[in-house]
Amino acid sequence: MRALAVVGTRPELVKMAPVVRALDSHPATEPRLLHTGQHYDAELSGEFFDVLGLPEPAKNLDVGSTGDARQTADGLVGIDTDIAEQEPAAVLTLGDTNAVLAATLAGAKRDTLVGHIEAGLRSYDRTMPEEVNRVVADHLSELLFAPTDSAVANLASEGIETGVTQTGNTVVDACLDHAPVAREQSDSLSRFGVEPDGYALATIHRPHNTETPDRLEAICSALDGAPVPVVLPAHPRTETAIEALGFEPDGSLRLADPQGYLDFLALLDGAAVVVTDSGGVQEEASVLETACLTVRPNTERPETVEAGVNELIEPSTLGSRLRTLATNVDARAAMTGHPDLYGDGRAGERIVDALVESLEVDG
Ligand code: UD1
Ligand code: UDP
Repeated sequence: MRALAVVGTRPELVKMAPVVRALDSHPATEPRLLHTGQHYDAELSGEFFDVLGLPEPAKNLDVGSTGDARQTADGLVGIDTDIAEQEPAAVLTLGDTNAVLAATLAGAKRDTLVGHIEAGLRSYDRTMPEEVNRVVADHLSELLFAPTDSAVANLASEGIETGVTQTGNTVVDACLDHAPVAREQSDSLSRFGVEPDGYALATIHRPHNTETPDRLEAICSALDGAPVPVVLPAHPRTETAIEALGFEPDGSLRLADPQGYLDFLALLDGAAVVVTDSGGVQEEASVLETACLTVRPNTERPETVEAGVNELIEPSTLGSRLRTLATNVDARAAMTGHPDLYGDGRAGERIVDALVESLEVDG
């Protein structure tokens, strides 16, 4: 039985890899990987394949950087064509990107079983393009692989109770597999001239932060004023926005290119604190027990905040909180100790077992 696994961006590569491996290992399934090509730079896409053990995609749609509507439309047409030609038994999507929206619509319209991995997350903020994608994906998918209790509860509150399996998040599978290799092999700390626990890591890429100049300026100023070095591997969206702002760091902030997965995990593992607006990084910080400050008004990862390992923060108070955490070992130790919020590292297998069970029941 062939399952079409659709990816489009960096986090989907990281989190889909354990599912592709489990599809490959299961005697009843085989994966077909389709990349929409939303991320295309080597440092956001190509370089991740080898390290994650992903096969070359059977097809790349090259949708590129054309904006939400065109990315979704081109993805829909390309995935629809692939489904018609290949007749997979199921389409698997992961997360909340435009690739997820396109693949969900394509599969549902072709009456092909659609399984949504990382189902049930809600920020309850419809200004985020990702929230719109999540809601549509959850309501059109027949199989919902929900990572946590709160994701299952969110689905139930919208009347989605059939086809739901709580699996944990495959981010843990990937992180547990690769963090030991990263610790052993990566030279990223010495490359940036930083010592374990003696620096902060930052990633920013949400449009709410990058496309609002006052917010971006306040974030950059807070990072630049930190009492320890701050390594910021900048997403291309962020690099462009910082250039447009004309912000020139002259303090602690070290702007860098996006890092490979192992180098990034090593940096996250060694940091005293991470400042982010990424979804995946909030999860990985909890697994690697690094205190996390999330520069957003809301999060679809509430279990990290409830467990006390992640705090939502506004740019105006980022500087003072960052100073406390960077300099006070007890303050940051209080924000660790819950590495299992997203599961035990076997989510990929659970997803494939649930998929096979559902296909066997349907005959
Ligand atoms: C997308 C996802 C977001 C996810 C993020 C992961 C949607 C709606 N957004 O946002 O949920 O968190 O990926 O990183 O699907 N660019 C390059 N090279 C590339 C790709 C993009 O330079 O390989 C630049 C382009 O200028 C582009 C901009 O980055 O306009 C934004 O890329 P895009 O894929 O549209 O959105 P992301 O911000 O990456
Ligand atoms: N990541 C990486 N290099 C970087 C920044 C992030 O390998 O320079 C990885 C990170 O470990 C995580 C994923 O990219 O697995 C998160 O992707 P991103 O923040 O772009 O997207 P989001 O999770 O917010 O959708």
